[in-house]
Amino acid sequence: MNYKLIETKVFGDEKGHLISFQKNSNCPFDIKRTFYIFDTVPNIVRGQHANRNSEFLLIAISGSCKIKVDDGKNQEVIELKTPHHALYLPKMMWKEMYDFSYNAILLVLTNTLYDEKEYIRDYKEFLKEVK
Ligand code: TYD
Repeated sequence: MNYKLIETKVFGDEKGHLISFQKNSNCPFDIKRTFYIFDTVPNIVRGQHANRNSEFLLIAISGSCKIKVDDGKNQEVIELKTPHHALYLPKMMWKEMYDFSYNAILLVLTNTLYDEKEYIRDYKEFLKEVK
């Protein structure tokens, strides 16, 4: 499948740790927007959509959650539970985020400005377009 779990470069010393994201350093795209998801309780499923133009980098900067990814042919579940890992998702990937721990903060970076028109929120429509 076309996602990538990136082992980030960490600047760590006796002061603690720092991880930076910019194009071609821990992140394959030009970052245009960022948001974070928090206060999501364990039985909630978020996402359930695909994006025609957006690529994403997802980092569990606190706590943990699971990401189900689906490229129209295969499905996989990735657990994010360390701020050292960043999950890269390309365009046209159906995604669902769930099993958030109570302290979870999921940081998301993307290459686009928000545009509801590039969202596919219907799974059958996604399967039609991804072929
Ligand atoms: P939504 O895409 O439903 O969240 P999730 O994929 O995590 O389930 O977005 C929730 C709301 O936030 C929705 O009203 C759209 C809005 N929103 C923005 O205005 N800008 C953004 O960058 C994002 C990601 C969402």
